[in-house]
Amino acid sequence: MSVPAESAGAVTGYLLGLIRGEPGDLYTAASHLIRNGGKRLRPYMALKSCQLLGGSAEDAMPAAAAVEMIHNFSLVHDDIMDNDDVRHGVPTTHNRFGVPLAILAGDILFSKAYQVIADSESTRPVAARLTSRLAGGCVEICEGQQMDIAMAQGSRIPTQGEYIEMIRKKTAALFDVSCAMGALCAGADEGDVAGMSAFGRNLGIIFQITDDLIGVMGDPDVTKKPVGNDLREGKKSLPILAAIDAAEGRERDAILNCFGNSRASRGEIDSAVGIIRRLGIDGAVRAQALEYAAGARAALGGRSGPARAELESLLDFVIERRL
Ligand code: IPE
Ligand code: IPE
Ligand code: MG
Ligand code: MG
Repeated sequence: MSVPAESAGAVTGYLLGLIRGEPGDLYTAASHLIRNGGKRLRPYMALKSCQLLGGSAEDAMPAAAAVEMIHNFSLVHDDIMDNDDVRHGVPTTHNRFGVPLAILAGDILFSKAYQVIADSESTRPVAARLTSRLAGGCVEICEGQQMDIAMAQGSRIPTQGEYIEMIRKKTAALFDVSCAMGALCAGADEGDVAGMSAFGRNLGIIFQITDDLIGVMGDPDVTKKPVGNDLREGKKSLPILAAIDAAEGRERDAILNCFGNSRASRGEIDSAVGIIRRLGIDGAVRAQALEYAAGARAALGGRSGPARAELESLLDFVIERRL
């Protein structure tokens, strides 16, 4: 199960209360993606991490809002960098409002994330530690994004290890920070904060690996994108790197021929995806994801209760999702 509607709704209401002001256009652009979708995974993890360690959801709400604002800041700027037109089935922020306003919309979200932590009653006692974690996460996102860009632009095919290092920063860092901040809001000690941080990091890596699998082998009826889309676009994602490593001879040539080749025919793409399936890449990549799942479960230690069950069910969702 993904984030329950009630929890996502509470976070969204709180967020939209923060992202308002004048000039109205700026705030409309800043809240555009939040008003039009999003799963609210990271704030949910902050709230549940706080509850797992004895705090309440209210204690962690400002931190939950902060991580979701940082996430949306990264999406708005990422869509500019990736030149993407659509997210959540609606025009991306820069596509709808223009690049200058989208840059500012991202900047406002970034700034307000720190403001809500500094200004809220419940987070004030741990504001310095929350700020340090959040800033560390933002640094890693920037580093990971640049690693991603350099990998995409370079002609060399990266190793699977290099790819994991990139997603560890680009995507998993913010999941880590979300859980660590939730733990801090509960007044947890460093050991418990480190445990939640490891849980989030492992879950974040799985999240990106699953995203990559969907991009290559996702069901077109569910994803609304043609099968093999990421192969045609030349994304150096884990299933593609694993397939290039595993394939030999003509099969390897058939995959490489489609890789980043916008002129590859539907038949050539289908045949390359067929080879990737026959090589068992889906299973091999899922097996890698399951190793991180074991790491995530171990990080939760012996803690029990409703929040543990909810975090474990989120972990199952992230492993099994098809969209
Ligand atoms: C998308 O994250 C960006 C990645 C890190 C792959 P989400 O899938 O969590 O984004 P939402 O749900 O649209 O906010
Ligand atoms: C998403 O990265 C943005 C960040 C993780 C900062 P991607 O470019 O890989 O993901 P999508 O496909 O746009 O969501
Ligand atoms: Mg992108
Ligand atoms: Mg990107």
